[in-house]
Amino acid sequence: MFFLVVYATTEGQTRKIAQFVADRIKVHNQNVDLLDATDPSIADVKLRSYDGVIIACSLHVGKFQTSIEEFIRERHQTLNGMRTVFLPVSLSAASKDADDIKGLAECTSKFLEDTGWKPGETHNVAGAFRYTQYDFFKRWGMKLIAYQKGVSTDTSKDLELTDWVALTRATDDFVATVEAAGKRTMAQS
Ligand SMILES: Cc1cc2nc3c(=O)[nH]c(=O)nc-3n(C[C@H](O)[C@H](O)[C@H](O)COP(=O)(O)O)c2cc1C
Repeated sequence: MFFLVVYATTEGQTRKIAQFVADRIKVHNQNVDLLDATDPSIADVKLRSYDGVIIACSLHVGKFQTSIEEFIRERHQTLNGMRTVFLPVSLSAASKDADDIKGLAECTSKFLEDTGWKPGETHNVAGAFRYTQYDFFKRWGMKLIAYQKGVSTDTSKDLELTDWVALTRATDDFVATVEAAGKRTMAQS
């Protein structure tokens, strides 16, 4: 089986998440390509040569990266005929606040509506406060949000909220689904 993991990141946490997912797919002895949506080689990607596609990108002020939005919009019809997973990365995914959860759902559904993509599965993934990557103003703003949310405001080190166990489970389940579909196709032919 051949898998594609495409990601867009601003401060790096989604790259780490996408790399983790790609490494996990390899544990199952499957082939995987990992691509940054800003890499010029993305224009040559042949989606139909993959059995499963995972797309990860992160939320910043209610929006996902333009690079991934364009990638999906241009290929949404092909993606809609494939086995796909959407991994929206955000801090709202770690929140228990009803407004945060509602806001995340609204941003995600608007993104999917705008791109025309209907992913087979969506798993919200909690990201990180990457204090060490922020400029002065971003660090100040994110420290304020951390204070309001009651999490660490120590900006000397990053604060990771990603649930790696849940991500492992989601990846394993997707690989199993794609493998099962592949076996069914082989049995029918
Ligand atoms: C300037 C800025 C704006 C953000 N806006 C949102 C937001 O609107 N909603 C949200 O849930 N998380 C928001 N986040 C949190 C990011 O989604 C989170 O830090 C994520 O891990 C970033 O992933 P990346 O490092 O791959 O860019 C924001 C973070 C920053 C720095």
